[in-house]
Amino acid sequence: MDILFASSEAHPLIKTGGLADVSGSLPRAIRNSKQEIRLILPAYPQALERAGSVREIARISLPGCDTPVRLLQGWLPHTRVRLYLVDCPACFKRPGNPYVGPDGHDWPDNAERFALFARAVCEVAMDRAGLDWRPQLVHCNDWQTGLVPALLSLEADRPATLFTIHNLAYQGLFDWPTFQRLGLPGDWWSLDKLEFHGKLSFIKGGLVFSDWINTVSPRYAQEIRTPQFGCGLEGLLEHRKDRLSGILNGVDYRTWSPGRDPLIARRYTSRTLRLKLDNKRALQAAFGLPEDPFVPIFGHVGRIVEQKGIDLILDLLPQLLERHLQLVILGTGQATLEQALRDAGQRHPERFGVRIEYDEALSHLLEAGSDAFLMPSRFEPCGLNQLYSLRYGTPPVVHNTGGLADSVVDANTATLEDGTATGFVFERAEPGPLLDAIDRALALYTEPDRWKQLMQTGMRQDFSWTRSAAAYLDLYTRLVSERR
Ligand code: ADP
Ligand code: GLC
Repeated sequence: MDILFASSEAHPLIKTGGLADVSGSLPRAIRNSKQEIRLILPAYPQALERAGSVREIARISLPGCDTPVRLLQGWLPHTRVRLYLVDCPACFKRPGNPYVGPDGHDWPDNAERFALFARAVCEVAMDRAGLDWRPQLVHCNDWQTGLVPALLSLEADRPATLFTIHNLAYQGLFDWPTFQRLGLPGDWWSLDKLEFHGKLSFIKGGLVFSDWINTVSPRYAQEIRTPQFGCGLEGLLEHRKDRLSGILNGVDYRTWSPGRDPLIARRYTSRTLRLKLDNKRALQAAFGLPEDPFVPIFGHVGRIVEQKGIDLILDLLPQLLERHLQLVILGTGQATLEQALRDAGQRHPERFGVRIEYDEALSHLLEAGSDAFLMPSRFEPCGLNQLYSLRYGTPPVVHNTGGLADSVVDANTATLEDGTATGFVFERAEPGPLLDAIDRALALYTEPDRWKQLMQTGMRQDFSWTRSAAAYLDLYTRLVSERR
């Protein structure tokens, strides 16, 4: 099978969140099962730099762009996945975050940027870029690629299309003048096409026009059909429920395993757990906390936004101070939440370690050095850090939602007894239930044998791509044969 995988991020080229982890590892897993899958990405400066050697293989003329866009070819580092970079300096040659300018606001021309990217993807998909290669399926990811299935629907002999929702809360919404500027078919400005409450919605391109929609966990696939999680799109998703499924993300254990991780202080496995303590010491040092092997450390890494429930942790700071624990938080995001965290760290430097930055290496050390990992997300399409935490013997404390619900087994009398417990799950995204779960973790932590069993059960879980990539492959096969 020939597949074109379109995404706006892929680790290690460019990353703001889990989308990059998935786009950097799923194509590799598919490639390993002998399919020809090629990755296409905007040529952000960081991506160009990290891709190493690339060469120009085509020039594509596109509406909305005075000069032809260059298509560069290289390889996704350390894989056999061919990489295409869409090089339009006017759109993508900007430093830093791919979506947000230095002032913290979205780039004002995001619609134009990702419409251009979508058009380039379509040209490659329709074999009009002169590559002499024609994919049978295009796999699109999140709103940045939402226009791809819509544009392909205009083609007579098009490939099959799959649209993966990594996060329904980010929809790519733009105003009416923008819609006019993009030169899209006029009838797309309607409720059953791309209009959403008086706005142009990029994500609706994927939701309305793709042959199949999937999300990154079975639970989230159910949740988004309800008003609570559907972000106003629940009606459309309910309507398409026969073409909607959930496939849990996998983990690239080459990058995320404590036994081979070059980014942590000391490598360890489930048989050498005492070495994890060296990471704890290094983590305490990195966050300026007193070095104490006995105090339990609760860690958190993530985008600092409401989705992640970071405010629930902030609400609990007085109660956490009353308990024997340290808290370490690494993240960047919303300014007010960042400031509240900084303040807490400055007020209690011996208890709360806070680093407001993006640091890939430190995120690995945090997984390795913490005793437990907090993930009180209000919603979580899949979530990767709880999966990493399991592997690092750092039991996760999670809200019962989305991929968190699909990957963590709550430690209660029955599951501790039968040896299936892997973490702590609480029912409502509120401070009280989160605190109860933290207290349950603290109580179990005082029983070293049972805590060790919990760690080891988590470390044994297999969330590698093997199963999930096979599920994607089944879906690809089915969609391609339906198109024939
Ligand atoms: P989301 O995609 O919603 O941000 P995920 O749990 O799927 O959440 O993935 C987040 C990814 O981004 C993880 O690999 C996590 O380690 C990484 N990450 C998030 N914030 C930071 C940060 N400040 N420093 C380093 N890595 C981060
Ligand atoms: C999104 C979601 C996250 C998911 C990631 C990768 O950013 O918020 O839950 O793990 O995409 O699919």
